[in-house]
Amino acid sequence: MYAVDEQDVIAMGADVVSTGQLTTSVGLQTLLALLANYQDVQEKAYREIQEIIGDRTPSYQDKFKLPYVQAVIVESLRYATIVPLNNVHCTNDDVELQGYLIPKGTLVVANIWSISHDRRHVLQLILSNISIESNLAYS
Ligand code: HEM
Repeated sequence: MYAVDEQDVIAMGADVVSTGQLTTSVGLQTLLALLANYQDVQEKAYREIQEIIGDRTPSYQDKFKLPYVQAVIVESLRYATIVPLNNVHCTNDDVELQGYLIPKGTLVVANIWSISHDRRHVLQLILSNISIESNLAYS
């Protein structure tokens, strides 16, 4: 059993702050840049926010009443793919994938950009979600 010491706690805290800070700031910058370039999308999202929230302070529950805004955010993350390559993972066991054997101990890096831009996966995502129009806000 590995005992967690003070240095581990500091390292974990730094990990969460650094991974969370960069992704969140780049994600927001990307969203703003896309909204500036697609003003019809911006206008529609703004109208939805005005209709549901108006001038009061937003609450967490409002999130579920804003399907278009949600779709715009998710589509921005898909389209821009701010983390294009995933962290390195390692297989715990031999794995068979589409006829290929990936031996135990292999380092695996998922290509998130490719998955996010593969029409087969994107279409599947759309079909299991709200609607083509709201999900493909930018595409
Ligand atoms: C748009 C925002 C974000 C994106 C696109 C993003 C993306 C990712 C990705 C792709 C991974 C790798 C997952 C894997 O290894 O399978 C990851 C891991 C991680 N993320 Fe985020 N992230 C975001 C926001 C955040 C925030 C806000 C935090 C913290 C408050 C955070 C903390 C972490 C941590 C600690 C890990 C490592 C998890 C582990 O130990 O495997 N992320 N993130």
